[in-house]
Amino acid sequence: MKKRGKNALVLFFSKTGHTKRAAEEVAAGLESAGISATVKGFADTDPSELEQFSLLAMGSPTHGGKPAKKVRGFMKSLPKKSLKGKRVAAFTSYGRVRGNHTIGVFKKLLKKKGAKAIVPGVAVKAGSPLSLWKGPDIREEDLGRLSALGRALAGKK
Ligand SMILES: Cc1cc2nc3c(=O)[nH]c(=O)nc-3n(C[C@H](O)[C@H](O)[C@H](O)COP(=O)(O)O)c2cc1C
Repeated sequence: MKKRGKNALVLFFSKTGHTKRAAEEVAAGLESAGISATVKGFADTDPSELEQFSLLAMGSPTHGGKPAKKVRGFMKSLPKKSLKGKRVAAFTSYGRVRGNHTIGVFKKLLKKKGAKAIVPGVAVKAGSPLSLWKGPDIREEDLGRLSALGRALAGKK
């Protein structure tokens, strides 16, 4: 069956580059499943742009066990029900602790805006826990988990 109109937006925020790298890997997973994926920063995206996409992935560094303030602000600014009918996935890069907590917060924010099927999120370790030192990169096996997230969002294993 032809996947009519299925396309994806991968939004990210990143201070030291790890979440940006993660976003690129999620997009590669989507593309490998035949879905065209656009990667953009939250800061360069107007909430109205989300309308054009049926699939959405959102990524943020873990800041204090939550998505970064800028990301939470973006999510809160979305009109109610604006994610209705969309398949969405969340991912985060964290230094040492509470990456999964960030995914939980993300899911609550996404549900509040009416997101339909929320694909299990992925938290990957990178960077240092509480500073802007870039630290270690995302490990190879975690890059694989991110591309698998992209494929899962596309509806493929
Ligand atoms: C203000 C701030 C708060 C952070 N809070 C946490 C945290 O709660 N848990 C954690 O494991 N890492 C924390 N980190 C580390 C980042 O999550 C980690 O370095 C991440 O990989 C950075 O992603 P980025 O390169 O996309 O900015 C924090 C970093 C900053 C700058």
